[in-house]
Amino acid sequence: MFGSAGYSNGYHQSQQQQSSGEKRGGGRGRRGGRRSRDPHGFRVSERQHHHNNNNNQQEQNSPPPCTDFDMAYFHSYAHVGIHEEMIKDRVRTETYRAAIMQHQSFIEGKVVMDVGCGTGILSIFCAQAGAKRVYAVDASDIAVQANEVVKSNNLAEKVIVLHGRVEDVEIDEEVDVIISEWMGYMLLYESMLGSVITARDRWLKRGGLILPSIATLYMVPITHPDRYNDSIEFWRNVYGIDMSAMLQLAKQCAFEEPCVETITGENVLTWPHVVKHVDCYTIQLHELESVSTRYKFESMMRAPLHGFAFWFDVEFSELENSPTNNHAPSSLFGSSNNNPVDGSQKKKRANPNEVLRLSTAPEDPPTHWQQTMIYFYDPIEVEQDQIIEGSLTLSQSKENRRFMNIHLEYSSGGRSYVKESVMR
Ligand SMILES: C[S@@+](CC[C@H](N)C(=O)[O-])C[C@H]1O[C@@H](n2cnc3c(N)ncnc32)[C@H](O)[C@@H]1O
Repeated sequence: MFGSAGYSNGYHQSQQQQSSGEKRGGGRGRRGGRRSRDPHGFRVSERQHHHNNNNNQQEQNSPPPCTDFDMAYFHSYAHVGIHEEMIKDRVRTETYRAAIMQHQSFIEGKVVMDVGCGTGILSIFCAQAGAKRVYAVDASDIAVQANEVVKSNNLAEKVIVLHGRVEDVEIDEEVDVIISEWMGYMLLYESMLGSVITARDRWLKRGGLILPSIATLYMVPITHPDRYNDSIEFWRNVYGIDMSAMLQLAKQCAFEEPCVETITGENVLTWPHVVKHVDCYTIQLHELESVSTRYKFESMMRAPLHGFAFWFDVEFSELENSPTNNHAPSSLFGSSNNNPVDGSQKKKRANPNEVLRLSTAPEDPPTHWQQTMIYFYDPIEVEQDQIIEGSLTLSQSKENRRFMNIHLEYSSGGRSYVKESVMR
């Protein structure tokens, strides 16, 4: 069905694009930064322009135009390596498959949309679970391979690959299920959640299902002497030479931007704080432009405080009040600010009998997302029970909404600091 009449699938563009294969640089999450050499003529649909002019509410919820940065982002997904990394992340891929199987009775005989299908793996899982039809949408040239994969598994009658942006493609029916693997580092990096919201608002039936349905971003103060010693203290004595003159540069280079690394439970100083709780059924596009929280931690030990770690989890649950219920504003869940997760909450949320959860927490099995660290240039010595407090704002960069501006304010022991960084 790839390229068949009735679906706006951009197949001709894909034929052109295949020959322009530029190598991808960097791993997942370092994808959005390269400019496309050749914007391939993806257009903002007429429908979208029309909506833009309708009224303020729609304007707020209108999907953004496809920029050169978006083109570069999609281009980076045309490389096999990024898909290999994601698919080999068994925690990720098997949790998605388990979630599909857990909802098999809902999916059977239904219409599914896979937002950002990549190689088509989740679409095929849904077809295997008995979906009547799956729209597998991807704006990257990887859609060409997805279509081949679908055909060679004899699923072309069921899985319709649409090569284009979810914001721009057209289909002739509503869907019962939306599935997507949209999460970036620190959950919101890449800004792909907006495309899931767009698909939801365009096509999801009342009572439909979104997988995953809930996402939560956490932060916690950390101590990481090994990391600090490796990158910074190292310069004090290099083969017997005092290279302390390198210290400032080393701090700048090592800690200016967020670092994607793995930590363990031993690095964390206390319980995490919920930065943002996302209900995929109700969240609106404008809420993603900027997310702010205030936090207050009490260190559980005496240690040098080196920065903060961030991670997320997603849940594949049906909501009590049901999908696409009344589209109540997600502020119902509160801004989740000042909301440390105590032991009882953790236990409840972690119960595997209740909800299937994909977690990227330090204490859980590792994933390709690892954890994201924002390190301070200089550690702060904290005592047990010492308060660490401040605020955090994550906002989409005005220049490139795939990038994330991070404004972090923190104070402890009577001193206050500010750190600005950009995840690009
Ligand atoms: C993280 S990958 C997931 C791929 C696949 N679903 C999987 O689980 O292996 C996200 C995919 O979504 C695609 N994508 C992101 N935003 C999109 C949009 N607005 N429209 C269509 N595809 C999009 C990207 O090109 C990429 O292939």
